[in-house]
Amino acid sequence: MSPTKFGLASSVLCCKNSCGPTVFIGWFFPRLQKFGPWRRYEQVKTRTDQLIFAEIAERRAVSDLANRRDVLSKLIVAAPEQSDRELRDHLITLLLAGHETTASTLAWTFHDLARRPELLGKVQRAADAGDDAYLDATVKESMRLRPVIANAARRLAKPVRVAGYDLPAGVTVFPSIILVHQTPSLYPAPDEFRPERFLGANPPPATWIPFGGGVRRCLGAALAMAEAQAVLKAVVTRVDLSPGGAQERPKTRNITSVPSRGARLVVTRR
Ligand code: HEM
Repeated sequence: MSPTKFGLASSVLCCKNSCGPTVFIGWFFPRLQKFGPWRRYEQVKTRTDQLIFAEIAERRAVSDLANRRDVLSKLIVAAPEQSDRELRDHLITLLLAGHETTASTLAWTFHDLARRPELLGKVQRAADAGDDAYLDATVKESMRLRPVIANAARRLAKPVRVAGYDLPAGVTVFPSIILVHQTPSLYPAPDEFRPERFLGANPPPATWIPFGGGVRRCLGAALAMAEAQAVLKAVVTRVDLSPGGAQERPKTRNITSVPSRGARLVVTRR
């Protein structure tokens, strides 16, 4: 997909003035789609689909599909019988579940490291020395402190008792990722950015849940960790970072929690 098209597709995430979770109400009340933010959301979605379907048609027609390395070509080669709609769904999933989440995690990581020069120095020395364990711990700690998805919903298939409350089947529960990550008994001084928490030991599965938990969790977790670590390494080995503005608050963009003003940084070559 060309950068311009990609740019437009990603604006589904944030079509002007309708970035908040309120846009989702339009999914459940289709009549709203004729008005305001819900209308704009539908318009951007329709335009995005047109671009993606055009790209799919173009790509199906090329003669060297098997030699191409981009993800759309690989998806077509892997299962040529799948419909354009299925391919479109895969691409949107990659864009929204994959890139948006990982990019936001990295934005928070750089935002926070730029405000902690000592820690940034430590991460840089680890990256220079090829100490991947420290980079991995830094990414994990960033995801603990700034989970980009705050909770993962579940509808109960059978009754369950949680913390003394009896919940019937059919109820939707929202285990809070952010509250678990901020629990002082699990993470002493939970507001501090301390990669050392994750050095030499993996957190128990129910205490570090940026990718959700249980039998159904994020499909892309391993890829996201590998990507985030690789990008962190590539950046900190090359440049120094300092804040390009005031400390940012989290803002909910559709479902992801992102730095409210885009995590501006001053970047200088090392
Ligand atoms: C930092 C990056 C990421 C974070 C924080 C993240 C977080 C999450 C969370 C919290 C869920 C919900 C899990 C649940 O229901 O318990 C989820 C689901 C999912 N994620 Fe990710 N994700 C990330 C990256 C990715 C990537 C890179 C991909 C694909 C390439 C991906 C694909 C998916 C898919 C397909 C699901 C739905 C799985 C299902 O319902 O069976 N995610 N992710």
